[in-house]
Amino acid sequence: MKVVIEDSYRALSRAAGVAVARNVRDKPDLVLGLATGSTPLGLYRELIRCHREEGLDFRHVTTFNLDEYVGLPVEHPQSYHAFMREHLFRHINVSPEKTYVPSGMCEDYVSYCRWYEDQIQAAGGIDLQILGIGRDGHIGFNEPGSSLGSRTRLKTLTAQTRKDNARFFESPEEVPRFAVTMGVATILDARQVLLLANGKKKAKAVARSLEGPVSSMWTASALQMHADTTAFLDHDAARKLAHLEYYDWVQQQSQGDN
Ligand code: GLP
Repeated sequence: MKVVIEDSYRALSRAAGVAVARNVRDKPDLVLGLATGSTPLGLYRELIRCHREEGLDFRHVTTFNLDEYVGLPVEHPQSYHAFMREHLFRHINVSPEKTYVPSGMCEDYVSYCRWYEDQIQAAGGIDLQILGIGRDGHIGFNEPGSSLGSRTRLKTLTAQTRKDNARFFESPEEVPRFAVTMGVATILDARQVLLLANGKKKAKAVARSLEGPVSSMWTASALQMHADTTAFLDHDAARKLAHLEYYDWVQQQSQGDN
């Protein structure tokens, strides 16, 4: 795994933005996997800037979001549909029929999740997946104990995740108990992965996931099995990594280690 450590959240957002923009320019019909949460907001701002100032063209890009809360209609302000509209889609020229966000309002999730996986396949598979990381090491909503072979499905959220995400809701009880999420194996199928993390709160999850044993208890650790993952970190998120000096050294050599 390539580990890039930047001086600030702004710098890591910009570095990740440069990587995404390069991919869109190289492949205008890129299939892009998207994440929600506060972490990718700086990256999305950077992509919006590239679109406005440099004409970065999203017309032929297809997007697939990782997850959605169960029980929130698309117009609910805390739904991930609303999040994506507000923070990215309405600011760029992506076509609405090419943006997929899982539905949290289904009757039959088994068929729905299969359909979602089929849409990813039909689009040619995800070229580039953007990820944040939960405090417990989750990617998407793949909570500790999720099978590393899991596909898109319903998942029960942990108390910790509901607590962490309560800041977005009026009261903690309003945080949904379930989510629909791409599985760990769905994420590992992406050709390239960018994992973003900033702040002290993520330091333990980052260290366990990047340097600890591969384990379903830290689902981001499955990325150690992925051939083309880059982690973009700030110093706070990187502070518990044992091999910090080595990552700095690799960065200085400007080589594309994975
Ligand atoms: C949620 C999302 C994850 C995200 C995580 C971290 O649980 N499902 O995709 O990575 O939150 O969020 P934040 O970036 O706000 O710390």
